[in-house]
Amino acid sequence: MTSAHVVWHDVECGGYDADLTLWRELARSAGGPVLDVGAGTGRVALRLAGDGFDVTALDRDGELLAVLADRARAAGVEVETVRADAASFELPARFALIAVPMQTLQLLPGREARGGFFASARRALAGGGLLAAAIADELEPFEEHSALPAPDVGEADGHQFLSQPVAVRERPGAVRIERIRQVVAPDGSRTSEDDVVELRRLSAEDLAEEAEAHGLHAEPPLEVPPTLEHVGSTVVMLRG
Ligand SMILES: C[S@@+](CC[C@H](N)C(=O)[O-])C[C@H]1O[C@@H](n2cnc3c(N)ncnc32)[C@H](O)[C@@H]1O
Repeated sequence: MTSAHVVWHDVECGGYDADLTLWRELARSAGGPVLDVGAGTGRVALRLAGDGFDVTALDRDGELLAVLADRARAAGVEVETVRADAASFELPARFALIAVPMQTLQLLPGREARGGFFASARRALAGGGLLAAAIADELEPFEEHSALPAPDVGEADGHQFLSQPVAVRERPGAVRIERIRQVVAPDGSRTSEDDVVELRRLSAEDLAEEAEAHGLHAEPPLEVPPTLEHVGSTVVMLRG
C-alpha cells in the first residue's frame, strides 16, 4: 500500500510537465552527468534517465527517494539516489548540470541555507558546469473568497485524493500556500486536513547576487511559461 505522504507528493507535484522540455534541453546542452536537487519521487530524474542521461537524485526525504529507486528499477533505468540536505551536501565535482526544479530552492529556510546550497553545488559542478533553479517569482496572492484554481487529483489503492489550493498569502519575505487535502475512501467517506507550504520570496537578481559570492556567475534567466493549471517560473542560470 502506497503511503499517504508519497501519494500527496505525486498528486501535488507529479502531474506538472510544463518544465520537462526545458530540463531535457539543458541536460542535452550540458552533455554530462545531471544532479536533480529535491528530486522527490523522480518526476524529472526518471524522465532524464529514460532519455539516457547519467542522473543522480538528491533529496532529504528517504521515503520519496525509495519510491524513486523502485520506479527506476521498474522502468529499467539507473538513477543514483543521495539522501542529503540541499543546504549541505558533499558530492564529487562531476556534474555538468545541477537542476533544481519546482521551487525547491524557495523551500530552504533563508539566506544562510541558500549559501550552504550554493557552496555545496559549486563544489559538485564540473568546470564550467551549470546550476539551473526554477523559482516561482510571480505567485499572486488570493484568499478564500476568490475563484479557486482547479484541485490536484489522484487515485491510489481505491482512494481518491484531492488537493485544493484555498489561499496564497503574503508573509514577511515569503508566500504561504494553503491547501485542503481530502481523501475519499471506496465507501464514500471523506477525511480532510489542512496543509501549508511556505516559499521564500526570491528574485533572479537576489539569487544572482547571493550565488556570485560562491563563485557562481549569473547568465540570462529562462522562463517556463504558465499553463491553465500552474503559474510560470523563472529559471535562474548560474555558471560554475
Ligand atoms: C516541490 S517538491 C519537487 C519535487 C520534484 N523535484 C519535482 O519537480 O517534481 C520539493 C522536493 O524538495 C525536497 N526538499 C525540500 N527541502 C529540501 C532540502 N532542504 N534538502 C533536500 N531536499 C529537500 C522535498 O523532499 C521534495 O521532494
